[in-house]
Amino acid sequence: MPKLTIDTITLDVPEGTNLLEAARSIGIVIPHFCWHPALGKAGACRACAVKLLEGPVKGIQMSCMLAAQDGMVVSTTDEEALAMRRAVIEWLMINHPHDCPVCDEGGECQLQDYTIAGGHSLRRYDGRKRTHLNQQLGPYLQHEMNRCIQCYRCARFYQEYAGGDDFGVLGRAGAVYFGRQQDGALQSLFSGNLADICPTGVFTDKTARFRARYWDYDMAPSVCPHCSLGCNTVPMARYRELLKITARRNQAVNGWFICDRGRFSNAAVNAPDRPRQALVDRLPVSLDAALDAAVERLNEFLMLHGSGALAIVASPRMSLEGNLLAARLRDLLNAGALCYFGDVLHAERTLEAVSLLNADNRASQEDLRQADLVAIMECDLLEQAPMMALAVRQAWRNGARVFAVGAECSLENAQQELFKAEAVVTLADVPLKDAKRPVVICGTRHKGLDSIRAAAGIEAKLAFVLDGPNAFGCALLAREQGALSFSEALAGGTLKGIIALEADLPDDLPPDIRIMAAADWQSSGVLERAEVLLPVTCWVEMEGTYVNNEGRAQRFKQVMRPGLPIKGLTPELHPPRLHRHDAPGGDLLPSWRIVAGLLERLGEERIQEPLTGRWAGLQGLDAEGGGVLLSGWK
Ligand code: FES
Repeated sequence: MPKLTIDTITLDVPEGTNLLEAARSIGIVIPHFCWHPALGKAGACRACAVKLLEGPVKGIQMSCMLAAQDGMVVSTTDEEALAMRRAVIEWLMINHPHDCPVCDEGGECQLQDYTIAGGHSLRRYDGRKRTHLNQQLGPYLQHEMNRCIQCYRCARFYQEYAGGDDFGVLGRAGAVYFGRQQDGALQSLFSGNLADICPTGVFTDKTARFRARYWDYDMAPSVCPHCSLGCNTVPMARYRELLKITARRNQAVNGWFICDRGRFSNAAVNAPDRPRQALVDRLPVSLDAALDAAVERLNEFLMLHGSGALAIVASPRMSLEGNLLAARLRDLLNAGALCYFGDVLHAERTLEAVSLLNADNRASQEDLRQADLVAIMECDLLEQAPMMALAVRQAWRNGARVFAVGAECSLENAQQELFKAEAVVTLADVPLKDAKRPVVICGTRHKGLDSIRAAAGIEAKLAFVLDGPNAFGCALLAREQGALSFSEALAGGTLKGIIALEADLPDDLPPDIRIMAAADWQSSGVLERAEVLLPVTCWVEMEGTYVNNEGRAQRFKQVMRPGLPIKGLTPELHPPRLHRHDAPGGDLLPSWRIVAGLLERLGEERIQEPLTGRWAGLQGLDAEGGGVLLSGWK
């Protein structure tokens, strides 16, 4: 471990650490544009100059390009280094627009920060600025090439990190252009990350453009609900409208990035016709009245049919808190069935996948990125867990062999864009024993699990692709609570009534089965049929917990208050004629509070904290702490 001194602080750093990273590790930030922790160095921007005073190298050096060595004495504040960095900013600003006060990247622009921090306030160059034409890059990203400082982050991410081939750098020397051969939507499923990694706003989220300044946003640490991986995000909202979602770093999970499905999926949250009004027999009522009506009908139903005819149907879409209280509701009512999964095969495979994982063999996305062999069984990664496909690409770029196992392994797209896989028939054909860090990825929709079970004691880490952000949590609860799948409950023939909690029930549900109450934030046939409709908050409007595919419990925080976005208000409601404390359509509670409301009306004490019993340890979970792995929970 090299020992060096940076600004009078002596430190040891791991071999290979560059000076910029070494300084960051002790809280000294050196300006930088082209270096990125996930992309490495490029030496393109020259903004990270430091002066080496003593040791094997001397003089002005780019800190991102030079590995720390024993005996180095580095100054980040030497006048010569400061002058170099000031000069770089001045050169960059020669061609960059001077429009920070009205620029839509203002407030989240690295160039703006370093320009102000470095004291550059006077333009000496009086020539014309170099300008470019922008391209239409599709519905999600806005192109503003005049802001470009040629750091190459975008091309390096798009082509090298994410394997895209429809975007890159054109031209040469001082005349370079970052774009496509011609206008057209970016094809990569990870293109939205350009908006996060561009340090100056050449690429911005078009869907949120000119809707808010950075400091106007309501934002909080959150977790993506669109697959089972639990990628960390920062959703940003204003006036009760979810405007954009950015990636949040979690090295063990998504690293620095997220996929476009997670990033550009605001429409359902903002939909003006989303369920926001409690209904009883299709008539609007207050949420309290709806809960009263649900309990009344429940009591009538129990008198008529008995508790064995009732099913409480929860779901992997719902937070852990809601799913836990669903089990309490089942216990209180002695309901005939508690269901977390739709069909029996789905339930069995998810439960089995979870039972096959333990503290030693579960693979995080970081384990995948570091793997030297990856076998993918029976799943379409780009469709079911895009960020896992991106993790496999990083392993493949580092030399890992990738195998596609079985006929149902749909890798056509992934193979073309992200990595080359060798097709084999069975897991036995994969040379797992030759690898040091092998990972087997397996879906739960097909029969790949059979092979893993058959190869008991498999010497590889395992990563399962589940369905739903809380499928792992539901599997633990299903085992603990003796839950049935919904198809089993239905096949029993005694089912007469349902309480549905963010549940996706089959469209052909027999008409004689009553849905007495249904809670959800998305419109569905279930809500259409429900006697009592209980609208609930979605994940950005509440605090809660998901357990991801590796068994990592992660807390997500409330980002925005529920209610109809101001943009969606009708002329009668907006502008408001009277001051009011509540938001139109804002009478929503998280699902767990809805269940708590039912429990309290049925005689239980007021529930303040849903995570109790062996789940109590998750109560203080820090949303920014990276999550905790549940171990020994089978
Ligand atoms: Fe070092 Fe760009 S960050 S040259």
